[in-house]
Amino acid sequence: MKVYFDNAATTAMDDRVIEAMLPFMRSHFGNPSSVHSHGREVRNAIEKSRKKVAELLNATPSEIFFTSGGTEADNTALVCGVETHGITHAISSPIEHHAVLHTLEVLEKKGKIKLSLLDVNSKGEIDHGQLEKLLKANPNSLVSLMQANNEIGNLNDLEKIGGLVKEYGAFFHSDTVQTMGHYSHDLKNLSVDAIVAGGHKFHGPKGSGFLFVRKDKKIHPFIHGGAQERNMRGGTENVIGIIGIAKALELAYEDMASHQAHIEKIKAHFIEKLSQEIPGVEFNGLSADLGKSLYTVLNVSLPPSEANRGMLLFNLDLEGISASGGSACSSGATVGSHVLRALNHNPERDSVRFSFSRFNTVEEVDYTVEKLKELYAVEA
Ligand SMILES: Cc1ncc(COP(=O)(O)O)c(C=O)c1O
Repeated sequence: MKVYFDNAATTAMDDRVIEAMLPFMRSHFGNPSSVHSHGREVRNAIEKSRKKVAELLNATPSEIFFTSGGTEADNTALVCGVETHGITHAISSPIEHHAVLHTLEVLEKKGKIKLSLLDVNSKGEIDHGQLEKLLKANPNSLVSLMQANNEIGNLNDLEKIGGLVKEYGAFFHSDTVQTMGHYSHDLKNLSVDAIVAGGHKFHGPKGSGFLFVRKDKKIHPFIHGGAQERNMRGGTENVIGIIGIAKALELAYEDMASHQAHIEKIKAHFIEKLSQEIPGVEFNGLSADLGKSLYTVLNVSLPPSEANRGMLLFNLDLEGISASGGSACSSGATVGSHVLRALNHNPERDSVRFSFSRFNTVEEVDYTVEKLKELYAVEA
C-alpha cells in the first residue's frame, strides 16, 4: 500500500485544475501584456481569475496580486510593508514558517527593524497579553502571526489578534498558506492587512500563489520590472499558475464543509487508534485538539526507541508511507525542527507530522497505525 500523508508539504493536483490549465499551455499562449487578440484573451482569463479569487475571499480584485507562491507573497508583504509604512519594529513568534522568520531576521540584520518574538509555551501557544504590551510600547509595528502552524497545526485567532492590532494602528500580516482553501476567509470583515496563499497546498499547481493587501494599506512592489499586476509585480505572468490557483480555490470553496468533515473524521480516527495501539504516544502542540488545530495536520511524538531513533521517517517510507518531520523545506536537513525546539520537545522522542487531504482514507490510517505498531513492537 502507498500512503501519502504529507499534504502540508504539497497536495496532488485536482484533475479539474489540470483541465482548466491545459488550454493555456496549448492554444491560449499569448503574452497577456500584448494588445492583440492572442494577448487579450489571456489577459481576460487572468482578470477573471483575479475576480474569482476576490469574490471567494470577499475582497476586491485590486487587492489581489498573483505571485510565485507563499514565500514570495510573505516576502513582499513583510519587506514592502515595513518600507512603505515607515515601520521600525516587528512582532512575530519563533514558530512562524521560515518564509516569515528569515525575512524578518534579514530586515533586522540590515538595521531596518527591531524584531520582538513572542514567547510560546510548551503547547506552542502565544500570550495575547504580551502582544498587547509590545503593541502599546511600539504602536507603529508590523505584526506577523500565522493563522495555522504548518508543523503542529496550532490555530491563531485572527479576529482577536486583528482586533488588537487595529486598536494600536499596527500593520497585520498573517501567513495563511496552510489555511487558504481549507477555511473560508471573509476579508471585508476580518482585520488583517495582508494574507497569502500557495496554490499547491490546496490541489493547485506549484509555483502559484497570491497576496492580498488591503486597499487602504497599499505597499510598494517587491519585484521591479514591467507594469504587470498593476505595477505591483514585474515579469510576464505565470498564466497557467494563475488559472490553476483560481480554479483550485473555486473547487475548495465548493465542497469545503464536506472535505473538512471527511478529513476531521480521518484525523480523529488516527488520534484514537494511536492512543489505543502505541503506549506512550503523545501529540505535539495543539494538534490533537480538534477545536484548536488545523484539521489537516497531526504531529505525533513517539516514545524513545533504539530501533527507530532518527530512522522513523525512513522506516515509514520503506513501508510505503510518506510523512514528514516538519516543514518540507527543512525535512532533508539535520538541524531538526525550529518549531519543536521552541516547544522544548524532548529530542529523545521521534516526531512525525502526518498531514491529510480529501484524497486520504480511514483504511490508510489503519495501515499506518499497524506499521507503527510493528516498528515499535521490535523494542518490546
Ligand atoms: C506556513 C507556510 N508558509 C509559507 C510556505 C511557503 O509557501 P510556498 O511553498 O508556496 O512558497 C509554506 C509551505 O510549506 C507554509 O507551510
